[in-house]
Amino acid sequence: MEVIILNTPEEVATLAAELVSKQVQDRSDSVLGMATGGTPLKTYEKIIKKNMTGTLSFAEVTTFNLDEYIGLSPEHPRSYRYFMQENLFDHIDIRPENTHIPNGLAENPIDEGPAYEAKILAAGGIDLQILGIGSDGHIGFNEPTSSMGSRTRVKTLTESTLEDNQRFFKAGETQPTLAITMGIQTIMEARHVVLLANGSGKAEAIQQTIEGPLSARCPASILQFHEKATVIIDEEASSKLELTDYYKRVREEQETLLARFGD
Ligand code: F6R
Repeated sequence: MEVIILNTPEEVATLAAELVSKQVQDRSDSVLGMATGGTPLKTYEKIIKKNMTGTLSFAEVTTFNLDEYIGLSPEHPRSYRYFMQENLFDHIDIRPENTHIPNGLAENPIDEGPAYEAKILAAGGIDLQILGIGSDGHIGFNEPTSSMGSRTRVKTLTESTLEDNQRFFKAGETQPTLAITMGIQTIMEARHVVLLANGSGKAEAIQQTIEGPLSARCPASILQFHEKATVIIDEEASSKLELTDYYKRVREEQETLLARFGD
């Protein structure tokens, strides 16, 4: 696992946007895995800027989002489809038919999981998956005790996740308690996983992810097994790590190596 600790959320977003750019520049028909929530917002702003200035095109890119609430239509302002349109897709040159999000209104939500998996497979799998992390260590909506071998399916959200996400819902608005989410195994099959986290509220989950035992209590800890996982965090999110100096030294030495021998 590559651990990159940066000073601010701004720097986290800059590096994340650079990784996405590099992926798409290397392969114009890349398949990207997208996340919603507060964390990737700045990254998406930077991606939009790159697209507007013509340095990055999404014309051939395909995307798959991690998750969607069950019961919310694409037009519902709290749906993840709406979020993605508002915060990214409507502002870049991606083809609408190339953007995929689980169908929260699927007639049979249980069938939606395997159908979504089949689409990912048909697209050739995910090249780069962006992830946020819940304060309880969830990735996608794979809550603590999710099976490490899980695939896209319906999940019941924990109280902790419902509380964390309440901020996106207006008073009196119904907050769904079920979601369709890519599974942990689905995420693990992405060729490169980039997990982003900012703020002290994520510090415990980040410590468990990077330095804790592999445990279903912290689903993100499975990333310790990923061949190419990059964790990019700000100082606050890194505040509970024990080996901070080591991660910083590894990064410095990695940069020196890259400067000499290329990537
Ligand atoms: C969103 C998702 C979630 C969020 C996580 C962090 O698509 O899958 O795992 O990444 O809940 O959310 P924020 O970024 O709002 O703290």
